[in-house]
Amino acid sequence: MDPHSSMQTQTENVLITDSDLSEQIKSVTKDSHVRAENTELMLSYQRGQVSLEQYKLLLCSLYKIYEALEEALDSNASHASVAPIYFPQELARLESIQKDLEHFYGQDWHEKIVVPAATLRYAQRLREVGSEHPEYLVAHAYTRYLGDLSGGQVLGRITQKSLGLKDGKGLSFFSFPSVTSANRFKQLYRSRMNSIELSEKEREGVLNEAVTAFEFNIEVFDELQTMLRVTDKEGELRHRHIPHKQKPMKNEGMMDETLQISKSIMSPTPLLRMLLGVFVALAVGMGIYAF
Ligand code: HEM
Repeated sequence: MDPHSSMQTQTENVLITDSDLSEQIKSVTKDSHVRAENTELMLSYQRGQVSLEQYKLLLCSLYKIYEALEEALDSNASHASVAPIYFPQELARLESIQKDLEHFYGQDWHEKIVVPAATLRYAQRLREVGSEHPEYLVAHAYTRYLGDLSGGQVLGRITQKSLGLKDGKGLSFFSFPSVTSANRFKQLYRSRMNSIELSEKEREGVLNEAVTAFEFNIEVFDELQTMLRVTDKEGELRHRHIPHKQKPMKNEGMMDETLQISKSIMSPTPLLRMLLGVFVALAVGMGIYAF
């Protein structure tokens, strides 16, 4: 089936009831949504105070998440539980994120990105779902894409304002040029979700997986903030020993120094990246006990 064939009709005649997957998934993830909104990263956003360091680190994680999600969706595009919600033209984010990373880190962004262990765990789960439970992919696609088309649009405007970004540069992630109305598209997406045939057991699995997907996002946000606190502390310590004229001018300088360190430790293999993740987690753990 061509998933785009009857977009107009489906958008117009949507009748959603409590027993529909779209309603059930919204209801089981309600509390998780509130928790996600209340992570430090999302609270910074809601205060309109996102920093360049926060946004850059978020982009690095989003890259790994969408790489795994979109790989899993692409390789299951014709699976009966995936085909109805497969909208690469409208939703795919990977290229947009690559563009943003290139804007902030330069051509060799691939060498410089920093990814916390929680992100690697999330990506790992996405790969597992792609190969073992493609019917659960709807839970992950819903959590990310419908989020991007909802609160995500507000986050885009806040990022633009608080970082003073011009002409959409560095903001491709938030932009969906093939979606003319986010609300109408979300209605269509919900009706496509509701058309997926699932056994009771599969439906329960999908609902649990949606809660897990939110959990992964919360863990990623929390770990990003922890990394930022660790690098801020390192920066503070370095500042105490650096003669004034060598001090970085802005927070970004501190982060870039950290990224350089990370780069030399992490590049080039994923295994080393994972080890760095573990190292940061250990450092964080030690930090918590030390203070
Ligand atoms: C500052 C943080 C956030 C704010 C202010 C926010 C706000 C919103 C709002 C207002 C809606 C309802 C839109 C509508 O009904 O059309 C929504 C929906 C949604 N959000 Fe968020 N959100 C935030 C963070 C997140 C995060 C971190 C995720 C997941 C990673 C997420 C996932 C979703 C999803 C999946 C929906 C669709 C719910 C549905 O209609 O079934 N949101 N969000």
